[in-house]
Amino acid sequence: MKMSSHHYLSQSLLLLLLHSSLLFPPTAAYDPEPNQDFCVAIPDSPNSISINGFPCKPSSSVTSDDFFSTILSINLTTNDRFGANASFADVLSFPGLNTLGISLVRVVFAPAGLVQPHTHPCATELVFVTEGQLLVGFVATDGRYFSKVVGAGELFVIPMGLMHFQYNVGEVTAAATVAFNSQLPGTVIAARSLFGSKPAVPDVVLSEAFGVEEEVVKQIRAKFG
Ligand SMILES: *[C@@H]1O[C@H](CO)[C@@H](O)[C@H](O)[C@H]1NC(C)=O
Ligand SMILES: *[C@@H]1O[C@H](CO)[C@@H](O)[C@H](O)[C@H]1NC(C)=O
Repeated sequence: MKMSSHHYLSQSLLLLLLHSSLLFPPTAAYDPEPNQDFCVAIPDSPNSISINGFPCKPSSSVTSDDFFSTILSINLTTNDRFGANASFADVLSFPGLNTLGISLVRVVFAPAGLVQPHTHPCATELVFVTEGQLLVGFVATDGRYFSKVVGAGELFVIPMGLMHFQYNVGEVTAAATVAFNSQLPGTVIAARSLFGSKPAVPDVVLSEAFGVEEEVVKQIRAKFG
């Protein structure tokens, strides 16, 4: 009798714990929450200690300008071989974002412009197409490919850390505004990481990984200078 009521108690405790962890999941999936109203970054502060983010400007010297940025109004050109260009309102260009767990990027695409396959290790990405039509796709960890042609006014979300791309499938310029739940999402471009690193990843590793001769690896590597 005693045993079974004890058993019952531990079962209810377990249920309670399960319930509360569902109601209040740990908030560890994106940038940590700030410990103060704001912490305007001093990105280039010399000899400053390294913390998870950037040190804060003294609060007394913070002004309205620290919360304002014109960075996304830059007139982007698209004349490199990929035909896409972006401006980043992240903590590096807009120090007021420090510790706030958010950033915004504007991307423009020439016809057939491509933002090549890449990942953001630290953020989920919400793509808002403002002009034209983009093919947006990502690959999940189980190898499934998810994609959509996204038109002006429409959204597509790319879950944190997954490999993805955007490609202009229209005949005119396309543009998107992209939100991240991180002040600095980090960008790992697949081709450049593997073939353009310094120092280089050994040819034999890439040759085996891609199932091609080392000569082919050298050819691809040459495109990264
Ligand atoms: C942006 O640049 C293009 C090409 O240089 C030019 O034609 C256009 O007028 C510029 N737009 C703005 C808003 O400055
Ligand atoms: C992006 O646009 C800026 C501003 O027009 C220009 O300086 C830069 O060269 C462009 N980059 C690419 C990759 O087209």
